[in-house]
Parts: sequence; C-alpha cells; structure tokens
Amino acid sequence: MRIFNASGCLDALAAPEVARRLDAFVTKTVTPLPREGNAPPRIAETAHGMLNAIGLANPGRERFLADHLPRLRELGIPLWVSVGGFCADDYAETCAALADVEAIELNLSCPNVDEAADSAAEIVAACRRATDLPLYAKLSAAHPDVAEVARAVAAARADGLSLINTLRAVALDKHLRPVLARGSGGLSGPSLKPVALHAVFVCHEATSLPIVGMGGIESGRDALEFVACGARDVALGTVLFADPGAPARVRSELATACAEAGVANPADKTGLPKSPETGAKVPA
Ligand SMILES: Cc1cc2nc3c(=O)[nH]c(=O)nc-3n(C[C@H](O)[C@H](O)[C@H](O)COP(=O)(O)O)c2cc1C
Repeated sequence: MRIFNASGCLDALAAPEVARRLDAFVTKTVTPLPREGNAPPRIAETAHGMLNAIGLANPGRERFLADHLPRLRELGIPLWVSVGGFCADDYAETCAALADVEAIELNLSCPNVDEAADSAAEIVAACRRATDLPLYAKLSAAHPDVAEVARAVAAARADGLSLINTLRAVALDKHLRPVLARGSGGLSGPSLKPVALHAVFVCHEATSLPIVGMGGIESGRDALEFVACGARDVALGTVLFADPGAPARVRSELATACAEAGVANPADKTGLPKSPETGAKVPA
C-alpha cells in the first residue's frame, strides 16, 4: 500500500519535507487556462468536516509545464499530475503535453465549477488516445451508481480509479447565510469515510482496476479499512492541513492496525468478497 496526498491538499513546493514522506506527490488539478478560482470565503470548517469551494484555482497548463513541473521534479519524488477541463479535448491536450511523470489523475468530479464536462468515459477515451501514461479516473460518489461509471471508464481503458472527490454541501452562518461566497462547496474529512469506503467497495467489485482510496483518512486503521474494501493505495487530504506529519504517522500506525485486525500484510486483506448491493455480508 502506497500513501499519496489527495490532489489540492498539499503544496509540495511550499512544504517539500511533507511531500518527501509520500510515495508520490499528486498535483492540484491543472486546467488549460489559468483560473483564479471562486471568490472568498472559499474554505470553512464545520462540525462535520471541511467545506471548500476553491474552484480549481491553478496557474494553467502553460505555466504549470514551464515553471511548476520542473520545480516539482527537483523534489526527486514520483509525480502524478491531476488534469481537469471542461471538455474532452481540454483533458486530452494536457495529457498529450505530459511526459516523465508516474501517472495522470483525471479529475472527472470537481463539485466547485459550473461548466458541465463531457461524460467520464468520453474524456478517458480521448486521453487514452493522447497518452501512454497510466490514467487514473477520479470519480465522485455523488453519481447514483458510481460502479457503473467505474465500468464505463474501465471500458474506455483507464488504468485505475481514484475514489472519492468531495461531496457537494452547504454550511450556514449565524444569520443563516451560506458561509462560502459561492453558496455550496465540497465536503471533505472524516464524515466522507463511510461514503468513500462504499464507493471503493462497489468499484473494486465492478472492475479489476487498482484503486487509490481517499475520503477522511486520518489514521492507519482508516487506511487499512480502505484496503479491506478494495483500495490498493490511499491518499491523505484534509488531515494534512491539521497534521503535516500524517504520512509518517499513518504509515507507522498501519502495523498496529494490522496486528489488531489479525492481518499479517495489508495486501492480504485487499477486497472483501461481496458488495452490500448483492446482499452479501457488509464489512464488519
Ligand atoms: C482544499 C481542497 C482542495 C481540493 N482540490 C482538489 C483538486 O484540485 N482536484 C481534485 O481532484 N480534488 C481536490 N480536492 C479533493 C481531495 O483531493 C479529496 O478527494 C477529498 O478532499 C477527500 O479526501 P479527504 O477527506 O481526505 O480530504 C480538494 C480538497 C480540498 C479539501
């Protein structure tokens, strides 16, 4: 099991010592043109997790390739580039411009932008034609049947899945106005974990693709639960804002979590036999 950061939750150039504790660094989503993102306030703490409406703020493809990527390479760690856009060509053109990175994560699921993207499978198919690099499709659990989307992107020749992105949510201030300027935002943190575990579980059952599991992981036990539901690797998101030492801590807690669960090796535990939908046993 490898440990990554979740896209948008770590600035590796500002905190290289945190990035170096990861098995790979995943960039914030890059779009063809620069984006300022949404107006502030665009981050809020709630009793149930973090809300963000960053809106894919990023320097744009050209500056990312010319300036950010070379500096990220100097860190000497494997890089995954998160790619976003508003039509299949946007994604495919960025994929075609990338070389010498470990993988590309296609952000097919940002809740904080208005533009409708083409279908997930259409985007994956266009990117497949544009690159031989491994393509991970990052999906949202907001779809009524995430396993169906997983099957569609597998058929379009994605190499893996990243599960899950934030879920659309609202928080109100004391005057009953939304705390975020945009109104709604993406909910992340521990409250996402049961939803994410379910998505990993059903997508693992639906496809044979490797899965990077994320959503509220804070401890070695959390990471092990994702592996038990079918994830091969995990990513840490919101926890990194409060605890930059989380990568090393989660790794060290994993051994204890395995011992307590009676598991010799997390890889032995990958994937539970049947999904809740098929009426079989739900993970204990
Ligand atoms: C502040 C913030 C920014 C994010 N930016 C991105 C992004 O640019 N691209 C993306 O695919 N996901 C983005 N995400 C979603 C995370 O990568 C992750 O899927 C989600 O937060 C669930 O994991 P967590 O509960 O551990 O944070 C962002 C999340 C947060 C909190």
